Parts: sequence; structure tokens; C-alpha cells
Amino acid sequence: MSSRPVALVTGASAGIGRELAKVLAREGHDLVLVARRQAELDELAAALKDQYGANAQVVPADLAEPDAAAKVLAELGPDARIDVLVNNAGFGGHGAFAERDRDADLRMVAVNVTALTDLTKLVLPGMVARGRGRVLNVASTAAFQPGPFMAVYYATKSYVLSLSEALAEELSGTGVTVTCLCPGVTDTEFHAVAGTDAQPLTQGPLSMSAAAVAEAGYRAMTRGKRLEVPGLHNKFGAASIRIAPRGVVLKVVRRLHPSD
Ligand SMILES: NC(=O)c1ccc[n+]([C@@H]2O[C@H](COP(=O)([O-])OP(=O)(O)OC[C@H]3O[C@@H](n4cnc5c(N)ncnc54)[C@H](OP(=O)(O)O)[C@@H]3O)[C@@H](O)[C@H]2O)c1
Repeated sequence: MSSRPVALVTGASAGIGRELAKVLAREGHDLVLVARRQAELDELAAALKDQYGANAQVVPADLAEPDAAAKVLAELGPDARIDVLVNNAGFGGHGAFAERDRDADLRMVAVNVTALTDLTKLVLPGMVARGRGRVLNVASTAAFQPGPFMAVYYATKSYVLSLSEALAEELSGTGVTVTCLCPGVTDTEFHAVAGTDAQPLTQGPLSMSAAAVAEAGYRAMTRGKRLEVPGLHNKFGAASIRIAPRGVVLKVVRRLHPSD
């Protein structure tokens, strides 16, 4: 690695994470790229070198596995320095809680919650000791309310928002910032993986590009903002949810994720 700042991005093999890696490379960072699909990460690493002169280390890892975060950092060696941590890897799943596959839901919690928490826990002390660092956690507009028929996914994203805002406050004055990025519907592989690609919301004109979401997230992170909801329509939606009666919100979200 060179003297450029180093950004570790989870879920860099596709979607928002891949676009965030490109923005970070363009803005002068070296990268650590984490996801399961090594071929996609290798291809991205080569492109980042060609286009931006960035050095990228590929660390293939399944973040649902026990101790995944510690294993990823162990790959980097004891002297590794992470200046920017982007906890982006995540996935969703659709269906009635009582009927959904137990293993799938537990893996979702492991990736969306456990790996994100542990990576942050392992990387933050170094940032605090150096008096500088940025953490960007990718939650979702799903974080702002419960999600019937996507209950575990919405709950994991509420956790990410809550943790991020609490840490941002704990760390004020340390030189380390925590930003929570809450995208609305974004055009990525997410919907095929979650089984929501046929739902009207994911097909509609309100879907944003992963590149636009990544630019908004990067900008918010560099400014040290605590919360970024990209897109005017998503900002409006998030604000409405805060004032709408919870029972109404639950019925609306239930309609967004029809159970059959
Ligand atoms: N797309 C949306 O509408 C939307 C909206 C709000 C928030 N988000 C959030 O944005 C983040 C990125 O999602 P995306 O939309 O870019 O979806 P995506 O295109 O499906 O990308 C998900 C990324 O997470 C990685 N990942 C998934 N499971 C993993 C595991 N077990 N171990 C390691 N990496 C894993 C995937 O890599 P591998 O498959 O190679 O492992 C991939 O790089 C997620 O946290 C998601 O919840 C998405």
C-alpha cells in the first residue's frame, strides 16, 4: 500500500458498494475490497488501478461466517491502517417471518448487523488513537419504520441507524465521524436477491442509480454528516414517516411488500 488513505469497503463486488469503491479511488484512496465473489473484486481492483492509479487489495470473505470481521482484518496484517470504513454489505429477504427459512434470516442478521458491528468495533480504536477517521454505514429508508413481510431486514437496518447515530455522538470531538447512509429503492442486484424484483416499487421511476447514491454517501461522509437520505423523494418519505401514525405506516409498508 502507498501513502494514500486506505478505505475498506464491504460488499464491493456489486451495486452501491462497487460505486462507492470507484468514488473513493477517484478521490485518492487505496482500497480493501471485501465480498464473496472474488472474480468481481479482482476485476474491480484492476479497473481502479487503470482508471485512478489506486492500489486495491482483494479480500474474499463470507461476512455471515463466525468471526468474519476479525478474519478479514487478519488478512491485512497487524500494521494495517484503515482510514475509511464503509460497512455496505447487506441483503434482504421477503416473506412471512413464521415461514421464512431460519438460516437465511440468521445469515441476514450476521451480515447486516454482526459483521458491521464487529468491523466497526475492531477498526474504531485505531481511528480514535490517530484522531481521525471516517465510518460510512449503509442502512436504508427501511430503517425508519418496521417492515411487515420483510421484518428482519427492516429491523437490521433500524439497528444500523441506531448504532450509527449513537456512535456519531459518542465520537464527537475525537476527529472520527460516523455517517449513516439511508438509500431508498436503488437499481442493484438487491431486489433479485431479496425476492422483491417483481414488486411495483422496485420497478418504478423513483429508483435511483447506485452511482448517484454512492456520490451522495461519499459527500455526506466527507462532510461528517450523521445522516444522509439520498434523493428528494426519499427525504420527503423519511420526514413523512416521522409524523404519520405508526399504525398507518405499518399498513402502507405491508402493501409495499405483498405476501403473495
Ligand atoms: N438496492 C436498494 O434498493 C437498497 C436500498 C436501501 C439500502 N440498500 C443497502 O445497500 C447495501 C448494498 O446493497 P446493494 O443495493 O448494492 O445490493 P447488491 O447489488 O446485491 O450488493 C450487495 C453486496 O453485498 C455483498 N454481500 C452480500 N452478502 C454477503 C456476505 N454474506 N458476505 C460478504 N458480502 C456479502 C455482495 O457481495 P457478494 O454477493 O459477492 O458476497 C454485494 O457486493 C445493502 O446493505 C443494502 O441493504 C439497498
